[in-house]
Amino acid sequence: MNEKPKAIEISLPPQPALLRQVVRLLEKEGEIAGSLSLQDKLVEICPDDWNARLSQYEMYLAAGQPEAAARRLEQATDDALQDAHRTSKFRRLLRSRNRLRLLANFERAALARNPADIRAALSGSQALLDSRDFAGAQALLAEFAQRPGHSAIACKRLTMGIRTSGLDQLLDVVLHGLAAGSSHQLAAWLSGHEDDDLATELLDRLERSQAPGWSSVAVQLARIARMEAAGRHDEADRAHARIESAIAVERVPQLASPTASTLMFRNPPLLSALVVVARWYVERSGKARIHVAACSTGEEAYSLALLLDKAGILDACEIMASDFDPALVRRARTGVVDARSMEATAPDLLEKYFTRQADGRYRLDGGLLSKIAFHVRDLRDAPAIQHDLVIADNVLVHYPEEEAARMLTSISAHAAADGVLCLGGGLAPGLGARVKALGWVPLLQGSETIHEAWRTQRKAWYLNPRPYWALPPARMLDAQPLRRTTLFARSEAMAAALGPLVARAIEAVDGT
Ligand SMILES: C[S@@+](CC[C@H](N)C(=O)[O-])C[C@H]1O[C@@H](n2cnc3c(N)ncnc32)[C@H](O)[C@@H]1O
Repeated sequence: MNEKPKAIEISLPPQPALLRQVVRLLEKEGEIAGSLSLQDKLVEICPDDWNARLSQYEMYLAAGQPEAAARRLEQATDDALQDAHRTSKFRRLLRSRNRLRLLANFERAALARNPADIRAALSGSQALLDSRDFAGAQALLAEFAQRPGHSAIACKRLTMGIRTSGLDQLLDVVLHGLAAGSSHQLAAWLSGHEDDDLATELLDRLERSQAPGWSSVAVQLARIARMEAAGRHDEADRAHARIESAIAVERVPQLASPTASTLMFRNPPLLSALVVVARWYVERSGKARIHVAACSTGEEAYSLALLLDKAGILDACEIMASDFDPALVRRARTGVVDARSMEATAPDLLEKYFTRQADGRYRLDGGLLSKIAFHVRDLRDAPAIQHDLVIADNVLVHYPEEEAARMLTSISAHAAADGVLCLGGGLAPGLGARVKALGWVPLLQGSETIHEAWRTQRKAWYLNPRPYWALPPARMLDAQPLRRTTLFARSEAMAAALGPLVARAIEAVDGT
């Protein structure tokens, strides 16, 4: 007689090795329910036994209980994502057992927890590729790379990770995504990449990728930065000159003329001298009325306002900034500055006063911007009001000497009776005498102590050697650095009192 044996219950001591053996035995005998409950017990005792966790999932699947299996896998995934050690153990196990779909899902869960997890993105896309799901791998990486805000280091890790893990066919997807989401950081990384061949290859690929948000100008700028870093200055200058108008046209159509060029902190010694002059007025009359004339897109006024704030006297200053080109004034009112123009801005000031926009440009703090009143004014017209400090930097160089001489008279009239005049950027030889004839006294002995930003000058000169900047690149001249007259007072007495203060401020920045 064939009698079914009676089920007997035995309790086993909680020893993992013994439990494993009994589970195997019961499985072999077809005792599904018993083997499942013992496997649950094993997982309960050894939650970090990832083999057991995976087997548990597979046993439930094999037993025709997909929902219970999914619950257990979900729990295992949660536990594995508790820390990096567990994560990498579970990841390794899934890969070594060739559970590619499970691995891809695991990495998706990892990315849901930490959207910046580069390893998860790489491992997930690799798993999908290995399981011949090219489209899935492409989508996962594209989504990851496009997420904005990857740092330069993240761009590097992701791109190099793609190369070293043999995912080369996905490199364009990654470059395209990074270019769309974090183009500034990607450019920063490629600008300074130590391997020239690799950087050139990546820049070429990038240029071909035509990612939204990425322009050929940005690629060229990264290439130029590489030339500069390699000491190939002439080549860099020429390359820059070739795209100068493209940069201007791309950003502000009205800027196609290089005469509107300006930069943040274009002339730091001069700016610091201007702060000293402003303080002079604040200490004597409780306020300083400042006119930044010919302000172009506003960077000079922004830089000065920012330094006045840093010096604690901004609230006592009335700043007007003007240009005769309405389009430039409109742009200046926005407070938006191109990244290229920010090169000389100290990181702490950048952090404190600017916000980086998604397009890679910077926006000046609204409070600071509101302290500057922008107006359209032609310096040749009679002034509506006079100011204590009138700054007309890098404007007279654009005019033929005779016209510049006539303009000097009207610029002079913009300054108050005890005002200070700043004429930075170079004066043609005859204009020095003209300034004196108008009663202006240089603030500094041999008042040629403030000079221009040479890097910018070189680039502009290559583009337009004749009138703009008037001077060839510094290294083509014997005089190094070439210096120009800049600051003037209305009287000898004022020049004698203010001159030494200004000289000290310049020396502190310039080291000369
Ligand atoms: C090279 S930018 C100088 C910008 C800024 N001052 C600097 O040094 O960075 C010259 C500016 O002078 C302006 N400009 C030229 N002639 C002018 C005039 N007659 N009145 C007002 N602005 C003038 C131009 O529009 C241009 O923006």
